[in-house]
Amino acid sequence: MNKYFSVVTAVVVLTSATFLSSCKKEGVAEGNDIIIGEYASMTGQTATFGQSVHAGAVLAIDEINQGGGIIGKKIVLKSEDDQSKTEDATAAVQKLINRDKVIALLGEVASSRSKAGGPIAQQSKIPMISPASTNEDVTKIGDYIFRICFIDPFQGNALASFAKKSLGAKRAAVLQDTKQDYSIGLANAFRETFRKSGGDVVSEQAYSSGDKDFRSALTSIRATNPDVIFIPGYYNEVSLIVRQARELGITVPLLGGDGWDSDELTKGAEQQFNNTYLSNHFSVEDPDAAVQNFVTKYKAKFQKDPDAMAALGYDAARILTQAITRAGSTDAAKLRDAIAATKDFNGVTGKITLNAQRNAEKPITILKIVNGKYHFAQRIGPNGETQTDFKTGDTPVTAPAK
Ligand code: PHE
Repeated sequence: MNKYFSVVTAVVVLTSATFLSSCKKEGVAEGNDIIIGEYASMTGQTATFGQSVHAGAVLAIDEINQGGGIIGKKIVLKSEDDQSKTEDATAAVQKLINRDKVIALLGEVASSRSKAGGPIAQQSKIPMISPASTNEDVTKIGDYIFRICFIDPFQGNALASFAKKSLGAKRAAVLQDTKQDYSIGLANAFRETFRKSGGDVVSEQAYSSGDKDFRSALTSIRATNPDVIFIPGYYNEVSLIVRQARELGITVPLLGGDGWDSDELTKGAEQQFNNTYLSNHFSVEDPDAAVQNFVTKYKAKFQKDPDAMAALGYDAARILTQAITRAGSTDAAKLRDAIAATKDFNGVTGKITLNAQRNAEKPITILKIVNGKYHFAQRIGPNGETQTDFKTGDTPVTAPAK
């Protein structure tokens, strides 16, 4: 009796295991769900990047599921925390693909980590959409790797033009993080455009992610008397760099890119951040109705304002799910083609069209930090044209062009 029972049990277990693994191959689990993977820095040095992008994606997916899901199925988001470490990003992608059998991936924010996870997605032919990695090389990994943000040659160009034309700077200093591909690429783009437009790069200094004392680099920069200092880093270090620069008596405008964006950037140093600017993907001040609707929903769910990563996470999840709907399937090649065909998507980070390089063509916003708050300074269109110029950035008087 016992023997008979155990044989039956074994057969049942085996059958359901075979059933599950055959279903998982197509990324559709037992509950008829579509499994999407996400790898993000939920903890560690740039924890707000992962937490925000995750919150944005969750908001989008919850809305879609509440509306009945897509192609008759619900979406399940499986998240892996890479702890802000490049090595862990690779392992996270491996887990999501091999263990969870995800049909597509969202991630990462930091370019170095997308470059670590991307090759695994490409080899496995699992479409990956980076919400926020702006380094040029990320999408060069292969034809399954996409992004929905602009790229650093565009961002660096916009910042250099802003420094030259709007701030009137002739002499720029650059302080870059040599541990991050993002920082190196953005510094290169800025330097090139600033020089081309007739400016001088008078000082170049470097640091590494995790450093805490930037005084000697800043002292060298101060000696060269720049009109502006460009700091293409992440918020954690930038937060300290700006405080230390002001303590050393450096009063000139300080300028950075999207990596500055975090609600932790200016905390406790709001005054020292006056006369600083950053480029970004999004502003809560954008009067566009879709943006304001997103801000309201996000605030209701998470009790705080969305930052750029949250907005990008929201857009990335929606672009992916729309592509699944258009493909009518989760088949990898069909889904890849559907993502590639994204055109004029009305995102909360602007109108998004993916080009042949799988990069997004969209506008960029320059923000001015005033008493710890980000205000619109300028909106620059996908072809480098100034769409809106607020001159001082203090008062967002007109609706910015989209
Ligand atoms: N663009 C940054 C990178 O490529 C990441 C980032 C995006 C940070 C948006 C903040 C906001 O590493």
